[in-house]
Amino acid sequence: MANRFFEGAVHAASYAKFRPQPPASLIDRVLTFLKEKYQGPFTAAIDVGCGSGQSTHILSPHFTSVTGLDISQAQITEATKLGTGTNVFFKVSGAEKLPFSECSLQLVTAGQACHWFDLPKFYEEVDRILVPGGVLALYGYAFPQPIYGDLTEKLYDIINYVYSKELGPYWGTKITMVDDEYGTVQTPFPTKLRCMKKTRVATGEVVVKMLMLLIAIKSSAYLTQVIQG
Ligand SMILES: C[S@@+](CC[C@H](N)C(=O)[O-])C[C@H]1O[C@@H](n2cnc3c(N)ncnc32)[C@H](O)[C@@H]1O
Repeated sequence: MANRFFEGAVHAASYAKFRPQPPASLIDRVLTFLKEKYQGPFTAAIDVGCGSGQSTHILSPHFTSVTGLDISQAQITEATKLGTGTNVFFKVSGAEKLPFSECSLQLVTAGQACHWFDLPKFYEEVDRILVPGGVLALYGYAFPQPIYGDLTEKLYDIINYVYSKELGPYWGTKITMVDDEYGTVQTPFPTKLRCMKKTRVATGEVVVKMLMLLIAIKSSAYLTQVIQG
């Protein structure tokens, strides 16, 4: 129960209203990485822990079919309300058993979600369903730094106070993986690229800076790179 904070209908409706869409530059970076490793057609991608679907739709121009998966029926209901498009589908599914056949996908993403998964089981499934050279992209938001004119610093202090002091005891242990900017996340896949890029994303009237990205490929050689910018 402690890890299943997101499943109710009210929570899911708030997600649909307030969660930002990941920036196009993030998807571009992932696709560039995928194109370096895999030369076939991009037929299918999935977004695991898709919530209300913002992180799923951004993939749709690039793949024949894209499926968002979430353990919460309420989140999938909201995601479907936002529109399924002609090649976007949503399904209820846990990350630990994915309803796809062997070597059937080029890309698996998880946006601000992998810290909730049983990672060893998730990785086994990812390894099973990705084509050779397919890519797993795990990304999330670093602690948001709001930008709002003269009030920026004050706003940051308030948010920081609420996040660390008021809500600190309620976050649960898994949130430390996010606080560590996914720096402690290990994957069993040999090739990795870790990016920490500050990007501005608007959510309501406030702009937040994000974002961390870890991408790993199902294949050989090892590469670690940190991009600042
Ligand atoms: C913080 S939200 C991120 C939602 C979306 N990817 C986004 O970026 O807006 C995490 C999501 O992961 C889902 N989730 C948590 N544990 C899961 C699991 N084991 N399998 C699949 N989804 C899970 C939750 O229901 C929730 O919708």
